[in-house]
Amino acid sequence: MISEQISSQKAVELEDKYGAHNYHPLPVVLSKGEGVYVWDVEGKKYYDFLSAYSAVNQGHCHPRIINALKSQAETLTLTSRAFYNDVLGKYEKFVTNFFGFDKVLPMNTGAEAVETAIKLCRKYAYEVKGIVENEAQIIVCKNNFHGRTTTIISFSNDEDARKNFGPYTSGFIKIEYDNLQALEEVLTSTKNVAGFLVEPIQGEAGVYVPSEGYLSKAKALCEKYGVLFIADEVQTGIARTGKLLAVNHENVQPDILILGKALSGGVYPVSAVLANNEIMNVIKPGQHGSTFGGNPVACAVAIEALNVIKDEALAENAEVLGQLFRSEIQKLVDSSDLLLKVRGKGLLNAILINDTEDSSTAWDICIKLRDNGLLAKPTHGNIIRFAPPLVMNKEQLLECVEIIKKTISEF
Ligand SMILES: Cc1ncc(COP(=O)(O)O)c(C=O)c1O
Repeated sequence: MISEQISSQKAVELEDKYGAHNYHPLPVVLSKGEGVYVWDVEGKKYYDFLSAYSAVNQGHCHPRIINALKSQAETLTLTSRAFYNDVLGKYEKFVTNFFGFDKVLPMNTGAEAVETAIKLCRKYAYEVKGIVENEAQIIVCKNNFHGRTTTIISFSNDEDARKNFGPYTSGFIKIEYDNLQALEEVLTSTKNVAGFLVEPIQGEAGVYVPSEGYLSKAKALCEKYGVLFIADEVQTGIARTGKLLAVNHENVQPDILILGKALSGGVYPVSAVLANNEIMNVIKPGQHGSTFGGNPVACAVAIEALNVIKDEALAENAEVLGQLFRSEIQKLVDSSDLLLKVRGKGLLNAILINDTEDSSTAWDICIKLRDNGLLAKPTHGNIIRFAPPLVMNKEQLLECVEIIKKTISEF
């Protein structure tokens, strides 16, 4: 049944009838991907400018990652952590060396890794810092996006994400993003702060890049007040912003690092929490886990996905192409009343549309971009995120810039 060819219309009808309506996809039905390209059911080719929300940094169906997947899938897929397997330890050594931490805790999705980091931070606060049990507070930022679990949406300020999903988890203090004074005020006025959970760039909020120095100064404040600095690099990590991690732009080493998405090149759900022994050792057998976390397929895929990032110098490519993209799009912004601004880092960028927040302009532009052969998606407000796979070359990027220019000129 799965190999049966269906039309785009049929695919949409099936999802509409049998699937929960928890997404509002752009109307395009994809059936194939390779590198920076995807094809729809009718064979039309597009540039992918979303990369599955920055999961497909290494490009669609990267042959090396697919080979790792196939070969491990034919050998051993899942043992659970009830037994050892012969891939997990190799992966743990590899990934901790890669990012410079003592230990890793493997999970599957980004939200699970954020949950893991929250639990780790709280446990460390009670058992090492001596905070009174159930009193730990974690500072988070307004307009954050860390995933969809009940605890995580408890500290979201997006009404769609929150409303009617209560009662909510307590223990979180929300402050303005990119505001060091707000951070220091909470650190000085509140007892029992255990951690500061932050996105180095707020992706879902519209690719909001904080002021230069924000991350390094926030880290210094956390050190001063003995609070764990927790970086959620699920979207910004793995070369997306022009460095391996977005915190590397400011030479920050987080106390807890959260990774997901491109850790597998978008091939398989793989996420991870990294920390040093002092922190990670508070977790003992039976206190946290996941049946699929650290399974042999995930481990083999993640090793190859990270090797591809390094071997193909994808961080460097993202840096160079990102500069080019923003400088080209800036010319368009300067000459068009429809666009307010382009912003971003590396190949995580966005354009702000000159229209009210609730208008459909960003959506309408994305529909036209689709017609012109480029797939992008609006994010919160009237903003379009542009995040192509990092295996793009200069020629392809310039062709995409032309598509965007042509599309905007049609409005
Ligand atoms: C910064 C950040 N954290 C966490 C998540 C959640 O990841 P997942 O959708 O894999 O649960 C996302 C997803 O977009 C994200 O951007």
